[in-house]
Amino acid sequence: MNTIIEKINQALAEVEAKAAAVVDAAAVEQIRIDYLGRNGLFPALSKEMGGVTPEERRETGRAFNAGRSRIQELIDAALARLASGDGAKGEAIDLTLPGRRWKTGHKHPITILADECVAIFRRMGFIVAEGPEIEDIFHNFDALNTPQDHPSRDPQDTFYFADGRILRTQTSPVQIRVMESHEPPVRIVAPGRVFRRDTPDATHGMNFHQIEGLYIDKGVSLADLKSVLQAFAIEMYGPRVKIRLRPHFFPFTEPSVEYDFSCIMCGGKGCPVCKHSGWIEIAGAGMVDPAVLKNVGYDPEIWSGYAFGMGIERLAMLRYRIPDLRLLYENDVRFLEQF
Ligand code: PHE
Repeated sequence: MNTIIEKINQALAEVEAKAAAVVDAAAVEQIRIDYLGRNGLFPALSKEMGGVTPEERRETGRAFNAGRSRIQELIDAALARLASGDGAKGEAIDLTLPGRRWKTGHKHPITILADECVAIFRRMGFIVAEGPEIEDIFHNFDALNTPQDHPSRDPQDTFYFADGRILRTQTSPVQIRVMESHEPPVRIVAPGRVFRRDTPDATHGMNFHQIEGLYIDKGVSLADLKSVLQAFAIEMYGPRVKIRLRPHFFPFTEPSVEYDFSCIMCGGKGCPVCKHSGWIEIAGAGMVDPAVLKNVGYDPEIWSGYAFGMGIERLAMLRYRIPDLRLLYENDVRFLEQF
């Protein structure tokens, strides 16, 4: 092989490498100047052609022409690549790499359960109401018939602001807000966050979630309350779950009850979750106290109703067998990803 062909091959190898690495058009132009420009390699080689023997002339001429057009091709390709934006910073793009998978979010178990409760009660004709998390004493306690010396008002139990307002300790003030602004009949549920000054442990937090229910109409009885809670329990945990009402006291209901579900874990036989009682406490409820109806301007001679308030964390812990309430608040993605 003669020296001209050697030089052409070497030039091709150089341009191949340089053209792949260029990051701007000026660098491409420099390649053109160095190899094809008036004082570049190829015009110089063309002058050397005169010294090639007649036998080699044909082969050398072919290599010269092929080399020149190959370099022009490489220059054109480099310019096209720069124009398309690919590798403009000199990175090679590997089109065979799989794409990056986006992490999809998950609904928090508390949201899942709250949504489910709302869906169940909506099917029974309840609509959703809301109230503020920063409440006043009137709506959270006074209008709910809570005596001045009731322990729940104590600053040991309730978060007070300097202006006298509080973080609501229950969703029951939403009852008052709805009744103040609506004429009966009323049928609402109100899911939301509530706050109490508890020391956090496996079953207590400083805030948790409740879903409040309120039904006011003519001739509402405890039997209506019981049937709604029974229907809710079955919708939530299936046909085998039973409910039980136990006498209790709340300032704003009379009579008041606490209600339990038969233990979802053991079916009522007794297990550590239900502390071997076969029952799990779900919520408070009762017939709305006539004093509360009077406070919002409803005539208790005409209207009656029931109210209930359930803990959503409880429902979530039972549904997903979550042993510790704190897991719901640590926002550990490995935990949340399971739902
Ligand atoms: N507000 C009560 C509580 O937080 C629950 C409740 C709601 C009881 C409605 C009766 C009626 O404990």
